Amino acid sequence: MSRHLEVRDVLKTIVASARELLDAEYAALGVPDDHGGFAQFVVDGVSDEQWKAIGPLPRQHGILAAMLREAKTERLADVRKDPRFEGWPSAHPDMSDFLGLPIKDGDETIGALFLANKKCPKPQGGCGFTQEDEELLQILAQHAAIALTNARLYERSRELTIAEERSRLAHELHDAVSQKLFSLRLTAQAAAKLVDRDPARAKDELQHVVALAAEAADELRAAVVELRPAALDEDGLVATLRTQIQVLDRAHGARVTFCCDGIRALPAAQEEAMLRVAQEALHNALRHSGARCVDVTLDKRGVGAVLRVNDDGKGFEPKSIRRAGRHLGLVSMHDRTSGVGGRLTVESEPGKGTTIEMEVPGG
Ligand SMILES: Nc1ncnc2c1ncn2[C@@H]1O[C@H](COP(=O)(O)OP(=O)(O)OP(=O)(O)O)[C@@H](O)[C@H]1O
Ligand SMILES: [Mg+2]
Repeated sequence: MSRHLEVRDVLKTIVASARELLDAEYAALGVPDDHGGFAQFVVDGVSDEQWKAIGPLPRQHGILAAMLREAKTERLADVRKDPRFEGWPSAHPDMSDFLGLPIKDGDETIGALFLANKKCPKPQGGCGFTQEDEELLQILAQHAAIALTNARLYERSRELTIAEERSRLAHELHDAVSQKLFSLRLTAQAAAKLVDRDPARAKDELQHVVALAAEAADELRAAVVELRPAALDEDGLVATLRTQIQVLDRAHGARVTFCCDGIRALPAAQEEAMLRVAQEALHNALRHSGARCVDVTLDKRGVGAVLRVNDDGKGFEPKSIRRAGRHLGLVSMHDRTSGVGGRLTVESEPGKGTTIEMEVPGG
């Protein structure tokens, strides 16, 4: 029952074994869905042509529905004579004696396993299936329960992993790549304006475009394989920030400055978080605030450090920004900060500029 075997294959094996071991003409297993139908329905003893002729998958009705609802074993001499029987599609094979068991995970009924038409001679008017058959089928139903539960757990953990991975990638792409592309666009626009008037400067700007495109490609690669920004490992936080801020200063109309006081190296995760927060705060200041000056400082505080990104732009009302939705930047800054045990404050007011402060504990 390995998890690598598709659950459907496991169920098929169980149904085929049940039919063979209990010497029945037909065997089936149904896993209900939440809409009155079946998420899985596996049969044995019915040819492909017959199966096609029967038509769509059964709905949860008649004896099947009763078994799922009441979670009770049903051993019937003639299923057609049961008051709960509601008929079959015309191409359905005729069935008389019937043995059906619920498949349970704790208290929850997660399916039904059933057999029809015992092949050996049956007692006059009685059911061909015996108490012993019932016990044997019970064991198979337990195997089916394990397979189904494992499959559900596996699916759930896979969904969780995918969701986490997706949100990490979204943040990473947002924080690193989209900002680089934004600068790239501005620089390209500047180059286009300069082409006729000042070809030499246009050429400079275009070289800049090339460099930014290369950086964006690096960031993208790093985001995808979850690497730290390469520059951090090579140059450390201070030098990386200084270079990036010089680039922004050149690429944008606003004056962007950097001032750093006696910082020692911080733990790698904290440096990375700080770089990402600085990038997003700078990006927001340059994109939203219309500031003339954006000043970044990085200061020592105890064994930790404090990063401050201040702009003299138009400011905003932090409370009015919804946490969910289109805006990822502020959310991402908070997440990254708390992820390394730090503290983030956003101070802003319409007309008064904005200050983002991030403190990390160091250590
Ligand atoms: N420095 C700032 N000056 C003025 N307004 C700002 C500043 N920083 C953020 N804002 C406002 O807060 C909003 C939310 O910012 P946030 O970074 O969360 O999202 P965004 O920048 O709009 O989109 P993105 O997901 O690309 O970052 C912005 O749309 C903007 O209105
Ligand atoms: Mg933003």
